[in-house]
Amino acid sequence: MNEFIPMSRPYLGDEEIEAVSEVLRSGWITTGPKCSEFEKMFAEFVGTPYALSVSSGTAGMHLVLKLMGVGPGDEVVTPSMTFASTVNQITLAGARPVFADVDYDTMLIKPEEIDRLKSTKTKAVIPVHFAGAPADMDAIEQASGDIPIIEDAAHAIGTTYKGAHIGSRGNVSIFSFHPIKNITTAEGGMVTSSDETMMKQLRLMRFHGIERDAWKRYGKASDPGYDIKEPGFKYNMPDIQAALGLVQLSKIDDITKRRNRIAEMYLDSLSDLEGVDLPGIPTYPHTHAWHLFVVKIKSMDRESFMRALADNNIGYGLHFPACHRLSYIRERFGDIHLPETDTLADRILSIPIYPAMSDEQVYRVIDVIKRVLG
Ligand SMILES: Cc1ncc(COP(=O)(O)O)c(C=O)c1O
Repeated sequence: MNEFIPMSRPYLGDEEIEAVSEVLRSGWITTGPKCSEFEKMFAEFVGTPYALSVSSGTAGMHLVLKLMGVGPGDEVVTPSMTFASTVNQITLAGARPVFADVDYDTMLIKPEEIDRLKSTKTKAVIPVHFAGAPADMDAIEQASGDIPIIEDAAHAIGTTYKGAHIGSRGNVSIFSFHPIKNITTAEGGMVTSSDETMMKQLRLMRFHGIERDAWKRYGKASDPGYDIKEPGFKYNMPDIQAALGLVQLSKIDDITKRRNRIAEMYLDSLSDLEGVDLPGIPTYPHTHAWHLFVVKIKSMDRESFMRALADNNIGYGLHFPACHRLSYIRERFGDIHLPETDTLADRILSIPIYPAMSDEQVYRVIDVIKRVLG
């Protein structure tokens, strides 16, 4: 039997092990100099003045919604075809998620849906750069008008839109470094924005509301005291993880290149297959990060297809069960119909894509899909 090909696998080597070991030996393992270095490197990479490391993308979203004052009586427009964490945060804040439909081919939010759904209650719009493809930010910003935009950039490390990296437009943007993501810190995230005041407030909220970083309060002859003007959370990233992030980010060009090559092989080899629809590619200039490769199964039911992949030792994922169909959303907000998302929700499946996947492994996946669906 061939070896198992997972859907995803973190791209980690000796450099990451060495970088983490160095922090472990240093005597300071939580948030400190490595975090500052990682934030600086990430901000430069994205092309934005400010970046704030956090314990997860979800934590970043919590902080941002809180800072924007999203609460009871408010609405937030976001796609239903996204990870539940965003929608959870909106509902936990007491607000109502208003679900936008996505384009069947690209799985990206349709800007005209924002026009249809926005109201005087809309406190924020959260587009998702799904699977590493950039959402159409010019059209989204036009449709949103004065409503603040939070870009969900969890999938978009390496994604560019019209020549600039996602996160560089000034909108607050949230990245994730969960192990499935294009670079990882085991768990972790980064918030970027060009708004200095907002970023200072987020920095305070990230760590109890304390003004000075702990690693500065514990230095030689330092002042260990602190004051708190507003209570905050505990969403900081330890240096052990930031050290991992620094090495990972230095490899991003190779990672993006390899993911693009694998996607190209899938697109070239599977395009004639009638039983499956492949990811649609945005027509505007962009770099795709190919975080996920999501196919839509048409000629058989998804369960049988998954079983066939499993029988052939091939992994898969489901990104994502549509949020408007989750039990608690239906109970609280009733049944919602989103034509393209509903069709997608029944058909989608993520097939293996990760930088260390060999050409041979890619062709094995292609052969199995052709055999099963052909
Ligand atoms: C679209 C999307 N948004 C947000 C998140 C949340 O990120 P995290 O897992 O770092 O909290 C994820 C992934 O996990 C995601 O896929």
